[in-house]
Amino acid sequence: MKVPILNLKRLHNSIKDEIYEAFDGVFSEQRFILGKQVKQLEERVSSYIGTKYAVGIASGTDALLLALKALSYKIYGREYFKSEDEIITTPFTFVATADTILLSGAAPVFVDIDSYTYNINPENIRKYLSNNSSKVKAIIPVHLYGQACNMDGIMQTAKEFGIYVIEDVAQAFGGKWKDKKLGNFGIAGCLSFFPTKGLGSFGDGGMVVTNDKTIAEIVDMLRKHGGKDKYNVSILGHNSRLDTLQASILLKKLKYVEKWNENKRKIAQVYNTELSGINDIILPVAHNSLPITPVYHQYTIRVKKRDELQAYLKKKEIQTITYYPVSLHKQKLFDGRVNPARKFGSLKNSELVTKQVLSLPIDPLQTEEETTYVVNMIKEFFI
Ligand SMILES: Cc1ncc(COP(=O)(O)O)c(C=O)c1O
Repeated sequence: MKVPILNLKRLHNSIKDEIYEAFDGVFSEQRFILGKQVKQLEERVSSYIGTKYAVGIASGTDALLLALKALSYKIYGREYFKSEDEIITTPFTFVATADTILLSGAAPVFVDIDSYTYNINPENIRKYLSNNSSKVKAIIPVHLYGQACNMDGIMQTAKEFGIYVIEDVAQAFGGKWKDKKLGNFGIAGCLSFFPTKGLGSFGDGGMVVTNDKTIAEIVDMLRKHGGKDKYNVSILGHNSRLDTLQASILLKKLKYVEKWNENKRKIAQVYNTELSGINDIILPVAHNSLPITPVYHQYTIRVKKRDELQAYLKKKEIQTITYYPVSLHKQKLFDGRVNPARKFGSLKNSELVTKQVLSLPIDPLQTEEETTYVVNMIKEFFI
């Protein structure tokens, strides 16, 4: 048996007729740029997450960049930060979370994560802010692997120090902290529709969700060259609109997201139960021990013999991936540039987990046989 980490072909085949209907709709209308499907998707996603506004963007990376630039506009009346401005985030994430900070003119400040949730530790944010609050403009928490950050801790700290929160929801579409959807806590939430994401398009795509009218308006301008009218612009913008074709596919897929996330939670429960007896494995923080509804963008375990286990599973045709093998603060980009990233403390948890994490197959349509096979092969490795 072969078990890929995600089986997009199977997933898309299961709704093939609807996807082709979406193609057909766009084909007959030929409104490829900001056609009505983009607006429809923005309305559905904002009502799903519970925000007032949503703006479709060309990628999750650009959603972060444009949200940051819009925040700068809100603070300073211009669309880029000062080089002394700082934005706190986690070093244990995809590069886009922090390179967009550099691209917006500010410097990322990396603070360490919790080694069990893999998410930024609000205590470390507070410690940094206690001595350095004047330069910090925002915090970007990342809901890694589809598991919510401690939003009570983060929002309280942000409020106390008077700084903004921009959530990176790229991996957590549909996830919740308590009874609120992720993306609806900070001044903006940034979504990615990269094909492998919980709501994935057939190419790149993203969205900014917000309750703030200024942020929504500025992001809307920034995605179309910086003007309400692209032939008469007022700020320095980008060409970064979500394609109509992608929006039309996402509209079809959105109806299934809740079901698919529920399926993944069930698979995660099987892994949790079956692997709990193996002492060498640290399981993801179980969703009944935190006030979260995870969406298991990844099901990630921690194992000391990570590379050996991965090689063993590969031989058994089970695909696993290490997200992420190198912490951002160890990457050259963030070191020694004009505006280098700041590091707070030792970042030892981030460094430790890069050596131990391994994401197992978790696919919305994964069969019981596939999950059992993965479990059995992991058990076999540890015998
Ligand atoms: C945590 C995180 N942030 C940002 C991004 C960037 O999204 P995109 O690939 O849509 O640009 C991704 C995914 O790729 C991600 O996983």
